[in-house]
Amino acid sequence: MSNSIKIKASGSVANVSCGFDCLGYSLDSPADILEITKNNSSKINISMTGLGIENIPLIPKKNTAGKAIISLLSKLNINQGFNVKIEKGIPPGSGIGSSASSAVGAVYGVNQLLDNPLTSRELLVHSMAGEAVASGGFHADNVAPSLLGGMILIRSYKPLDIIQIPIPEKLWSTVILPNYTINTKDARKMLPDQVALKSAVNQTGNLAGFILGFVNSDFNLISRSMKDLFAEPVRQTLIPGFKRIKNSALENGAIGCGISGSGPSIFAFSNEKEIANKIGIGMKNAFSKEGLSSKVYISKINQNEPRILD
Ligand code: HSE
Repeated sequence: MSNSIKIKASGSVANVSCGFDCLGYSLDSPADILEITKNNSSKINISMTGLGIENIPLIPKKNTAGKAIISLLSKLNINQGFNVKIEKGIPPGSGIGSSASSAVGAVYGVNQLLDNPLTSRELLVHSMAGEAVASGGFHADNVAPSLLGGMILIRSYKPLDIIQIPIPEKLWSTVILPNYTINTKDARKMLPDQVALKSAVNQTGNLAGFILGFVNSDFNLISRSMKDLFAEPVRQTLIPGFKRIKNSALENGAIGCGISGSGPSIFAFSNEKEIANKIGIGMKNAFSKEGLSSKVYISKINQNEPRILD
């Protein structure tokens, strides 16, 4: 059994317009890389390099990776220490699952080093415990796709019921990350505790339509269903030029477009790589007009679990 492992854990897009807190998909990139080594103490030591690390606490119980490992070790009743070096490829406050990837990479790596006592699905609850430290809520729509790959539906939180949705072969994802951050905790506090029955009815119809559209590769139905009546109307005010950026994606052929997680990243779906590229260029130009530089990530939905690098 090895003492050390390197893991790549991908970013993810949560909510996916019509699935607030219950839909999310995994990206190819960006990703966090974690190098985890057993140590001779019972302590977890965390160090970090990379993007946006200035405000991330290194104290294990306040760090998403550290807290996730503590939760896992406590479940297994194991008193082993680990050194965890995290290279942040996903900046915090980006809306593409930065805290989730660190939590997922941490439990995935530690589980490997312990000779896989738990399945990936069993690791989910520990990744969620880690992510909750940063997001202020117990939600799985970033951790589940990052851990299991694919497009995930969280049908229920109590008990946890996670379903992988079939993915249309021709589907492409474009994600744009502006040079700007939004704190997920704050973005969650903005949302109302209750929604109107009429909105709930519409959102339920859209979510059902979205799932059926994915199952049947019906892009028209997916497009009609990609509406968010819960979070986007409130949170769009946090993203400069959001309406113009979304319109540019739709004008360039996007099937649908919305805020990625709590933002400021924005995602769009299309059915061809060329269109996905064109959408990326259009959104980048639109963000420049708001005075913001940005990075674009184009890929199919990533269907893999975290990758062991060596
Ligand atoms: N579903 C969560 C939210 C995702 O929108 O607050 C956060 O990335």
